Amino acid sequence: MIRFVPYVLLFCSTAFGQSAKKPAYQRSEVKTEDRVADLLKRMTVEEKAGQLNQWAGDLNTGPASGNADWQYKLEAIRNGKVGSMLNVVGAAKTRQVQEAALKSRLGIPLLFGYDVIHGYKTIFPIPLAEACSWDLQQIERNHIVAADETSSAGVHWTFGPMCDISADPRWGRVMEGAGEDPWLGAQLAAARVKGFQGNLDNKHILACIKHFAAYGAVEAGKEYAYTDLSREALWNKYLPPYKAAIDAGAASVMNGFNIFEGIPVTGNKYLVTDVLKNKWNFKGFVVSDWNSIGEMVNWGYATDNKDAAFKALSAGSMMDMETNAIVKFLPELVKEGKITMKQVDDAVGRILYYKFKLGLFDDPFAYCNEEREQATLFNTANRKQALEAAKRSVVLLKNENKVLPLKKDGRKLALIGLYATDKAHMFDFWKGQGNPADAVSLQEGMSAAFGASNISYSAGYTANSNTVDQALITEAVEKARAADAVVVNIGLSGELAGEDRALANTAIPANQVELLKALRTTGKPVIAVVSAGRPLILTGITDLCDAILYSWILGTESGNAIAQVLTGEYNPSGKTVMSFPKATGQIPVYYNYFKTGRPSPTDGNGNWYSRYRDVDNHPLYPFGFGLSYSHFTYSKLVLSDSTMNKTGTLHVRVIITNDGEYDGEEVAQLYINDVTASIIRPVKELKGFRKILLKKGESKVVEFEITAKELSFFDGAGNSVLEPGRFEVFVGGNSRDVLKEGFRLK
Ligand code: NOJ
Repeated sequence: MIRFVPYVLLFCSTAFGQSAKKPAYQRSEVKTEDRVADLLKRMTVEEKAGQLNQWAGDLNTGPASGNADWQYKLEAIRNGKVGSMLNVVGAAKTRQVQEAALKSRLGIPLLFGYDVIHGYKTIFPIPLAEACSWDLQQIERNHIVAADETSSAGVHWTFGPMCDISADPRWGRVMEGAGEDPWLGAQLAAARVKGFQGNLDNKHILACIKHFAAYGAVEAGKEYAYTDLSREALWNKYLPPYKAAIDAGAASVMNGFNIFEGIPVTGNKYLVTDVLKNKWNFKGFVVSDWNSIGEMVNWGYATDNKDAAFKALSAGSMMDMETNAIVKFLPELVKEGKITMKQVDDAVGRILYYKFKLGLFDDPFAYCNEEREQATLFNTANRKQALEAAKRSVVLLKNENKVLPLKKDGRKLALIGLYATDKAHMFDFWKGQGNPADAVSLQEGMSAAFGASNISYSAGYTANSNTVDQALITEAVEKARAADAVVVNIGLSGELAGEDRALANTAIPANQVELLKALRTTGKPVIAVVSAGRPLILTGITDLCDAILYSWILGTESGNAIAQVLTGEYNPSGKTVMSFPKATGQIPVYYNYFKTGRPSPTDGNGNWYSRYRDVDNHPLYPFGFGLSYSHFTYSKLVLSDSTMNKTGTLHVRVIITNDGEYDGEEVAQLYINDVTASIIRPVKELKGFRKILLKKGESKVVEFEITAKELSFFDGAGNSVLEPGRFEVFVGGNSRDVLKEGFRLK
């Protein structure tokens, strides 16, 4: 004992002595906030500006900025001029670049960011399709897999989820979001953030909510165009998903390219400081979108990049993606007294906080393990999840005479469509590191399911073109005549989905319509599988097909997933989260439209009401719509009371019966209507859903709860308002076909 004590003391004092020599920010036992404060004290203003600077590495996901040379970039990193890199991926590559950062004076590690929009290497359905599953657990699992793959490849941070609400299918980016509904968008945003971030260990990544705010309101769906909306619309329609994502713990927020109240959102103090930082108490950091600081000059809101940096920082924005303005001008702006050191420290401190939180100061290479990367990327378990996700995302829009499911009884199938085999069209721009060659085409999926000898293939059309190729049509018709049924894969190439993919015309291309007309003459059942990153106008083709399966863009396991739905191995349960327009002129058409002084007469007759004269007011397929091979009947909608107190809970019960021929899943949806309010409210608003499995012949009581939360709305100042009065409650399998009840809020 006597000999042992000095030994222990010696050990402790040596260990203490060593760690005492290290600055506080380098010691893992020090509280994160104190490490941040210690580091900030040691940094020059130039080094702080460096932390606010983000450059792209190997890939440009925006207009090239001219700094393509890696030696130049590495030199800048070694000099502490860069705090984050985007588009640098792979355990080996990120290690190499991180090594440069560790050579900087204070050895501050880089944060690596990358767009993981629907998977990193194993590609999942596009977010819009995934949303149609209404399966929050599945969606969270999809993001856990994406985070695992991404983090195994050295990346710490992704630019997602996109939380922009949009009902405009002309906008190419609807594919990245959750559709037209703010309430559903909020649930999905939270699930996605949880999946990405988990507990922020090295199997997870930081999320980035984008594009703050209201980027989905872009005029006429035109990319990078003006946005004009009221504060009421901002609060009620656009902000709920971002808010839900922040409440779920999202670490960062990205500015949009758009405008709010005449001011670019990147330089908009109301949005970034008043709402995000002050009202919502957001403690994470804000990154600009690609050159969105510099673009304030093009908008005519800033005179030059220095002015743009000043305006972005003054509004509360922080990291500069690719403008190169903050790193260049911040020291001058501080010297001139335009930006205070307090502002700088707030911005830099938030970024450093997450670098500490991820453990990068303690182990800068925690995400750079090549063995783990190899074992994780595109492994069997991940592909299995992608298949589960994909089959749940398919939406069955039409199934006349129950042509689907197709029995695997040796029947001959003609498979028509370029997109069914040509993998180049299977993915969109946001395919991450996914390799189209690894994806399962529809032809491969169907061959595996039905037997290759039962499938005869022909292309039928050329890509993204209205030019009719008669020879291709003739060949397709011959194949159809020789078969028992026709599966025709139409729609748009994945290349036409995503950023900078706005379309003025979203109908099915004319060459495909001609193909369908010709196939119709064969008298064979025609099953259309429609691939696209947006709801297309199907008006011209519904009568030309017996069944329509909307497959969106389903990712790596696309062909297997569609085949499982075609055979009935999986009974489709997806419900569309965007209304399908009947005509371009109807766009935007959405279920939660506002009341009008002149509503349509209920009997369908009359004049002088809100409408077009050539096309009716209804979408072709409404929000929440999707068929099953089974059939569900809703009955006995009952409310627990005819009145409710502001602090009370109303129970809503309905009986759902599966009176079809298969077991199946149904998404029961609850909507409310605030009949009279101090601002005009929508005719219906989604406020709840339940996804349930019902065996063939089974009935279940499904219950929802309504509380003050579901009945409140926001005024223009962002206050939540709960007003007494009459409310209507609707429950059904889509937003159109519903049972209705009512109650009074006291
Ligand atoms: C521009 C896009 O708008 C944004 O969504 C993306 O995250 C960045 N580029 C980075 O690629």
